[in-house]
Amino acid sequence: MRLILSWIRILSVVLASWWNANYQNPSTEDVASLLHSSMDLIKQYRQAADKSCFILGATGESGKALVKELVRLKPFHKVVLIGRRRVDYDNAELKQLDQRIVDFDHLENHRADFQGFDVGYCCLGTTRGKSGADGFVKVEHDYVVGAARLAKEGGLQHFHLVSSMGVNENSFLLYGSTKGRTDREVSEMGFERTSVYRPGVLMVNREESRPLEAITRCVLKPVAYLAPTLITTPIETLARAMIMNTVLEQPAGAEIVDNKRIHLLGNMLNNVDPHAIKDFKTEL
Ligand SMILES: NC(=O)c1ccc[n+]([C@@H]2O[C@H](COP(=O)([O-])OP(=O)(O)OC[C@H]3O[C@@H](n4cnc5c(N)ncnc54)[C@H](OP(=O)(O)O)[C@@H]3O)[C@@H](O)[C@H]2O)c1
Repeated sequence: MRLILSWIRILSVVLASWWNANYQNPSTEDVASLLHSSMDLIKQYRQAADKSCFILGATGESGKALVKELVRLKPFHKVVLIGRRRVDYDNAELKQLDQRIVDFDHLENHRADFQGFDVGYCCLGTTRGKSGADGFVKVEHDYVVGAARLAKEGGLQHFHLVSSMGVNENSFLLYGSTKGRTDREVSEMGFERTSVYRPGVLMVNREESRPLEAITRCVLKPVAYLAPTLITTPIETLARAMIMNTVLEQPAGAEIVDNKRIHLLGNMLNNVDPHAIKDFKTEL
């Protein structure tokens, strides 16, 4: 009986620590100070120099979320969208963004469009179903590597690439092997910093109809609730993580940002009080 009681006690301590580590809500003071320091970092980054960035794939789901957060938090003096088509925004701030249209099959004709940026975010992507096997490799490898190369020639310091959880260059699957090869080639290009993000299933109400993804997201909702970092990534968390990872001082070189770290970084900017952002903006 005493043995059983001891085991129950040990088990409850383990469970309580696990719960505290993963799910206990931080106090209001903790959240406030975390937000304050995150926003201080963004402010310092913005004030340190006139930094500029470009976004590839700004019309996709992760690209749209990133643009929204960049416009909201304003770490950069200049944000340029580089894509295959122009977007007509309703929002006045988004309307002001510089948009450059390029032909991804002839990127060599667009050297000037990639010149002089500090930071580049790549959110390009497609599916095999939509583009076929060759089209998938073209977008997920050739366009990404081609654009990264031009950006490097143009003096870019920090390249961010949205990849995916579980990719592996040696995989027999087209998805994993193509993305794995792209991750490696971009990481070897010698940017001062390269950040390759490997999120789980992106939790977003996708504009485009992808029934299989919609079913997967639905099935994964309880998992996302119980174990948020296991296999899912809210789209806003990914966008915020990319911004926090830009403004945080990190060692030079290439890094893989796994899903746990994406959540850690992204959550630093979650639950931001709109009033705090408003005050923050007026201080800039
Ligand atoms: N879906 C997921 O759950 C998931 C999970 C983990 C990782 N990822 C990865 O995350 C990345 C971003 O995913 P996402 O869902 O945000 O992408 P998305 O919504 O499919 O958007 C893709 C972007 O790439 C552009 N693009 C596609 N084909 C192109 C082409 N032939 N030429 C030029 N531009 C092209 C699109 O432009 P248009 O708007 O003009 O088409 C769009 O801006 C992808 O690499 C994806 O593999 C996705």
